[in-house]
Formats: sequence, structure tokens, C-alpha cells
Amino acid sequence: MNSDTYIPIETITQTKLQKSEFPVYIETYGCQMNFADSELVSGIMNKNGYSNVYSPDGASVILLNTCSIRENAESKIYKRLGELRKYKKKNPSLIVGILGCMAERLKRDIFLKSDVVDLVLGPDEYRKLPSMIENLVNTGEKGVAVRLSRVETYDDITPLRKEGISAWLSIMRGCDKFCSFCVVPYTRGRERSRKLESILKEVIRLWNEGFKEVTLLGQNVNSYRSEGKDFSDLLKSCAEAVPDIRIRFTTSHPQDLSLKLIETIARYDNLCKYIHLPVQSGSDRILKLMQRNYTTEHYLKIIDNIRKAIPDASLSTDIIAGFCTETEEDHLMTLELMKQVRYDGAYMFKYSPRENTKAWKMKDDVPEEVKTKRLMEIIELQNKISEEKNREEIGKIHEILIEGPSRKSPGKLKGRTDGNKTVIVSCDSFITGQLVKVKITSSNSATLFGEPVSSK
Ligand code: 5AD
Ligand code: SF4
Repeated sequence: MNSDTYIPIETITQTKLQKSEFPVYIETYGCQMNFADSELVSGIMNKNGYSNVYSPDGASVILLNTCSIRENAESKIYKRLGELRKYKKKNPSLIVGILGCMAERLKRDIFLKSDVVDLVLGPDEYRKLPSMIENLVNTGEKGVAVRLSRVETYDDITPLRKEGISAWLSIMRGCDKFCSFCVVPYTRGRERSRKLESILKEVIRLWNEGFKEVTLLGQNVNSYRSEGKDFSDLLKSCAEAVPDIRIRFTTSHPQDLSLKLIETIARYDNLCKYIHLPVQSGSDRILKLMQRNYTTEHYLKIIDNIRKAIPDASLSTDIIAGFCTETEEDHLMTLELMKQVRYDGAYMFKYSPRENTKAWKMKDDVPEEVKTKRLMEIIELQNKISEEKNREEIGKIHEILIEGPSRKSPGKLKGRTDGNKTVIVSCDSFITGQLVKVKITSSNSATLFGEPVSSK
């Protein structure tokens, strides 16, 4: 369908909304949870007779699934809304919707910030999308739905996934941790878990559909609870039910990462030996202000337990530079902790004050240029550590899941290790989804390169 075939709103009100002729395009920003949510929304729309398209050209509905975690995440959306103005000019019937965290945070105020927006739906309101579109088409009324739920898990909705070998699967929603810097507990509401049986069924279905890897998602998967079962029980059930599917998970909070969980990961071959364990800061004083509920001592003890039980585990983390009152000494403690743990990778950010959080009331007193300098030092150190760690992989053999052709190296393939490291394989005879034993021959700070040894 091209832009000439748009159905004008007036025509639709007179006849009936031809949903299959009303293609929906979703653009996703932010964390993996949002990517999983966009697949849920596509599933809901599909079930209601709408078609999905993968480009804004020719779409009758454009939805932006948004993130509020830092100010620049929201700036990106405003910029995008500015660009969408030209689509709306070309097609005045075009419907633009804001989904996700920004919708929840700003609610009706989004209309004041952008006249392009027609619909605003928070993360627990996606079931209402089809009826809100119909209402908008029939009445011309803009719609807002931002109620947070204590029970919504979209358990009965089948996400519409793009073809591939890797699938996202959310096992819980919301967060009760209330770290003082974080807006997520306000935008995604209270923690609630999906039923174990239903997750298990979905993992089995994914395998039968040809997926080779599944990533279990939650803001804090370690607080998963369902009918007396915890996250370790869930991992164990999934690992045993589908022994050949690779299982990953994210994100873990250090407060709840139990020995039982570490032992479970160690026990099953198909549970990836990769743990993302955000530390945020290496200073106990800052951790307390962040309301993280652990000390560096406790954190390092967990790392120690992981390394003892799973010597080849890959570890990554999140770090915030320049949180309120952070001194040079606090910053040096973060660098020190990084040297001690030697993470395989890290996501590193400058502190960005978010309205309504506890930290919003503290003074954002670290000057921008100091935040930038500290962040640069953190990134530089991590790059050096990643490069050294990747060099240590040379000569080792890894089982790689082939994801497809490498875009940067034509004629070669791209895959991932159990520990989540990208490997470029010098061979194009394997197919996507195949597990291949690869000997690592060279590396840089971001990528490993290797040759196949034998395949399975
Ligand atoms: N400023 C900067 N980084 C933040 N994060 C969460 N909130 C903020 C904020 N206000 C980071 C944390 C978290 C990751 C998902 O985003 O490191 O672990
Ligand atoms: Fe935000 Fe903390 Fe919850 Fe993570 S655990 S989503 S950082 S409040």
C-alpha cells in the first residue's frame, strides 16, 4: 500500500473501519521490555484484524513505543514527532500514538507538547488500543489510557514476532525496587509475574516454531514469584522442558541474586553463562543514596559466588556517572570496583534527573562537564578491560549460535557465544540458527573473530 491508498477518516465513519486496510507501524525505543511489548501490541492489533507493516510509509497508524529512563530518551521522541509532522501533512487521516513509559509519565500533557499525537497509552493499557483507534476514527476524539494495573501480564496474548532465531519473552512486569534515580516504578507500576506454566508453554512453542534462543525479560527477574515458585524454579523448568534452546535472562538486581539461582545456572548447559548485574556505583555512600539496598562488599561476594560456581561466566553491568553529591573519591571507587570485577561489558550513563523520583529532590550538583569527564574515564577503562578479556579468548573454542551474515564483513557470518559475545566466523556455509564450534583467532574490544572447528 502506498500513501495514495490511505483511507480518509470521513470515508471510514460512513462505512465500517476496514481494519486489514489500516496498516499499523510500531517504532520501538528503549529497553528489551519495550521490544517485547511492541510484539504484544502487534499481536493485539493482529488479533483484532489490523495488518502490521514494517515501515512508516504507507502506515495508517504510527505508534512510538517510548522510553523515559533518561532525558535524552525523551528528546529523541520529540525529535521523531517533529519528523512525523510531514507524514501527517501528506495524510491528515494518519493516526499517531505514543505508547510506553513516556505516555505513562506525561499522560495528557503530551498533547500540549506535540499536536501530532492522537493517542496516549501506558504500558498496562494496550488491550484498549483497537477500540481507541475505532473511537478516534468515528468521533475524531483524541484518546488517553494510562491506568496502571496490579495484575495485567498479557498472559493470554500471543506476541507477533518477526521471523528469527532469538525471541524476547517477558516473564514479569513492573518494578518495586524504587531506586532513587529511576522512573521505571512510576511508569511501569507494581511488580507482577506471569504464571510459570504459561511461560513454559511459550518456551516450548517458540522451540517448535524454530526459535533457537529465548531471553526471559523483567525489570528484576530475580523477584519472579508465581504460586510458590521463584526464578530459579522457572529457569530449571524451562531448561529441562526444552534442553536444546538457549536461555538468557535480564535484568538481575544484586539484592535478590541467590545462591540457588547461581547453582541452577551452573547446572544446565542450555542456561547461558552470562549475567547482567547492574552495580551503578562503586561507592557505598552513593549506593545508599541511590537506595540500591546493597553494599559493594555484598555485591563483590555475589561476584565471588558466581565465579566459584561458574568460572567461565561472562559478566556485564550498568554504571551511572555523576549521581547527586558524587565526589572524585566516589568516582575513583567505581573505577576501582570495575578493575576488581573486570566486567566483560558495561552500559554506562551520565546521571539524568527524572521528575517525581526521590533523587529529583536531591541536588543534581555534579557539573555537566565533570559528569562527562567521569563517564569518559569509565568508558575508557571498560574498553581496555573488554579488550584484554577478549584477547584472553584467543585460542579457546566456543559454541556459537549463527545469527546470519555479517554486515561489516561480507562473506562471513555473525554469531554469539554463550557469554553473549559477538563472533565473526570466517565461513559462509553454515545456516542461521546452527550451533557451530569456533576457535577464536583474533579479537578487539567489541568483537571476537574465529574459524569453525566442527558443527552440530
Ligand atoms: N540517569 C541515568 N541512568 C539511569 N538509569 C536508570 N535511571 C537513570 C537515570 N535517571 C540506568 C541504570 C539502569 C539502566 C537501565 O539505566 O543504570 O540500570
Ligand atoms: Fe529502575 Fe532500580 Fe527497578 Fe532497575 S531495579 S527498574 S534501576 S527502580
